[in-house]
Amino acid sequence: MILKNVKLNNKIVDILIEDGKILKIGKSTVEGVDCKGLTAVPAFCDMHTHLREPGQTAKEDIESGSSAAVAGGYSDVCCMPNTTPVVDCDYMVEYIKLKAEKVAKCNVHPVGAITVGSNGELMAEYNKMKDKGAIAFSDDGKPVANPNVMKQALEYAKDIDVLMLCHCEDMSLTNGGVANEGAIATALGLKGIVTASEELDIAKQIILAEMLDTRVHICHISTKGSVQLIREAKARGVKVSCETCPHYISGTEDLIDGYNTFAKVNPPLRTEEDRLAIIEGIKDGTIDVIATDHAPHTFKDKHCIFNDAANGISGLETAFSLCYTYLVKTGEITLEKLVELMSLKPRDLLRLPTNEIKEGNIANITLVDLDNKYKIDSTTFKSKGKNTPFNGFEVYGKVAKTIVNGIIKYEDGVIK
Ligand code: DOR
Ligand code: ZN
Ligand code: ZN
Repeated sequence: MILKNVKLNNKIVDILIEDGKILKIGKSTVEGVDCKGLTAVPAFCDMHTHLREPGQTAKEDIESGSSAAVAGGYSDVCCMPNTTPVVDCDYMVEYIKLKAEKVAKCNVHPVGAITVGSNGELMAEYNKMKDKGAIAFSDDGKPVANPNVMKQALEYAKDIDVLMLCHCEDMSLTNGGVANEGAIATALGLKGIVTASEELDIAKQIILAEMLDTRVHICHISTKGSVQLIREAKARGVKVSCETCPHYISGTEDLIDGYNTFAKVNPPLRTEEDRLAIIEGIKDGTIDVIATDHAPHTFKDKHCIFNDAANGISGLETAFSLCYTYLVKTGEITLEKLVELMSLKPRDLLRLPTNEIKEGNIANITLVDLDNKYKIDSTTFKSKGKNTPFNGFEVYGKVAKTIVNGIIKYEDGVIK
């Protein structure tokens, strides 16, 4: 396959792809797929996706979730284990791998649970799960509250060089809250969640990782204080990495006004001050990765009173456009930096091979139409989850084509 007239690092080139790899970048006289006006970037890798299979397939399944992924420009997603049942043993990991081989539109990497049933008590068997293809471990949806359990988990993870992805939350401080604590939650009569709920648990992870001199990754950071804690830890050499999500870059607690359950997410959308601190953290390298925390839910899960609504935003299909619009278009960062956050760094942390667009590398490529301004329309989502607070937002940077392992899997609205 030849991609013709592609914009790559400000040059117009043709990209020859063979056997899943980039064979040649240059000029060719042979006919091919016309990509005039499109910019090629390394396809994105999502470290944090909820595909909901097994057991919650009314929300999403591997086929629909991976379709959403390629529609969003992703060639790789890591799926969280908070399914029914929880992915906490080798045969569950194997099940996801086998199912993905059959139906997935992109590469699917299962994340195994840190503790059995994600109950926070007994450590799961990481080595066995790793052997079947688990890429990392997480009890996402919940914190591992017991510091001694977390300490043992980190020791085990260090031995086999896998990354622990930590959902940091102190449940005693969350205390049944449903929105960021502050004026808006108060005005709406909603119970608030203090920022310390997130920050206290991050501090715990940092202290444990520092003591054990091992890696740890913090999921979905949302507060100014979290950025500061991680910035300081990195400065003294702690091997901590972290992600934030598109919604903490492009949205604030204002979105919950009118009891908009589509903006209910955990951790909650915060203040403008937090949002700006997150952007600072991205700019100075404190934040390593932008992951989606794609959390699809059914109509029923969200069409209820705010207190009862499920947490989460369907994020795979809006991630690039939101980040491009709110970070690159605004002049905060370059497109190259965004590619680092969405493609290169996650692969590096997960020990996956790089997909920089260079001869010899794997052909996981996304073609984006950067100047295409469009309105987000959740009715066009490939995901079963239409739950986004960004519906109707005008954004730039439309994903036009996604190439996974050398094959076009998404093109102009159509899954291949
Ligand atoms: O908003 C969220 N949704 N946060 C989580 O931690 C879990 C996730 C889910 O699984 O829906
Ligand atoms: Zn989480
Ligand atoms: Zn999550």
